[in-house]
Amino acid sequence: MARDAAVFKDGVAVITGAGSGIGAGLARRAGALGMTVIVTDVNAASAAQTVAAITAAGGKAEAERVDVSIPEEMDRLAELVFARHGEVRLLINNAGIETVGNTWEVPTARWEATLNINIHGVIHGVRAFVPRIIASGKEAWIGNLSSVGAFGQMPGQTAYTVTKHAVQAFSECLYLEMELKSLPIHVSSIVPGMMRTNIFNAEAGAGEPASASGHRRAMFEMMREHGMDIDEGCRLFLEQMADGQFWVHSHPDMSEEIIAGRIRFLQDQIPPIMPDLARQIAVD
Ligand SMILES: NC(=O)c1ccc[n+]([C@@H]2O[C@H](COP(=O)([O-])OP(=O)(O)OC[C@H]3O[C@@H](n4cnc5c(N)ncnc54)[C@H](O)[C@@H]3O)[C@@H](O)[C@H]2O)c1
Repeated sequence: MARDAAVFKDGVAVITGAGSGIGAGLARRAGALGMTVIVTDVNAASAAQTVAAITAAGGKAEAERVDVSIPEEMDRLAELVFARHGEVRLLINNAGIETVGNTWEVPTARWEATLNINIHGVIHGVRAFVPRIIASGKEAWIGNLSSVGAFGQMPGQTAYTVTKHAVQAFSECLYLEMELKSLPIHVSSIVPGMMRTNIFNAEAGAGEPASASGHRRAMFEMMREHGMDIDEGCRLFLEQMADGQFWVHSHPDMSEEIIAGRIRFLQDQIPPIMPDLARQIAVD
């Protein structure tokens, strides 16, 4: 039996941003393994669709409309889940948005949304759920969505890159806090390479500068052509989490190459290295 089938065969999974893409894929996989999945998304209709897919396949799931960037909504979610189920075995802080545009052109509202969803969303998830998980005394697994972008530099995606560097650091420190306190909570940094999701869809770019649209379209097309199938990637993620790995990859070779570049950059203290991709799809 694969280890994820043993570790995630029951209990409650809470997944943010689970109406689409990786979150939806993780929710379907957790449901198929036997967990009760709390499918949360800011988009209630898409959360309901994920729930329908899980229940149609014979699984158990509940939809909740939650905006991860609002602390009170995450507190309410944690309260509701613990009142209803008394435990959480798997928490995935997945919700995130991409933001494209030159740093100085991205409007304040889009900067704030990017930081509040991608960074604070993860922090609120941990702050709201971890005290209750600790009080339950049960073993649990937490996965925070990092990215290969957490290890490099990408002009035109500065807002996004900043958030992924931050989440990566957050997960590293959180892992050590669990170790220092000998808590039975496994922390993983989930590092997708490129998966065929909706993150670069044109609608998701509302509020970005107009000059960003070509870069966004090029990324969208690249993902459609080269992105990994979502279900395949999410199966890999839950297997590695079940093994208790901190590093969880969809494309280990891509991660390794980007991390090696980061190590060279830091060790030699050279100026930032332009990724080939950046020149091809530069923002005007
Ligand atoms: N797709 C990739 O290749 C890739 C690569 C690296 C990292 N990631 C990360 O994976 C995560 C999921 O992205 P995806 O590619 O599946 O994107 P996606 O756009 O397909 O799905 C993101 C989901 O998050 C939801 N969401 C957005 N704002 C929210 C909010 N405020 N509160 C709650 N939900 C909200 C959206 O409604 C959507 O359902 C993100 O954190 C992203 O940065 C993705």
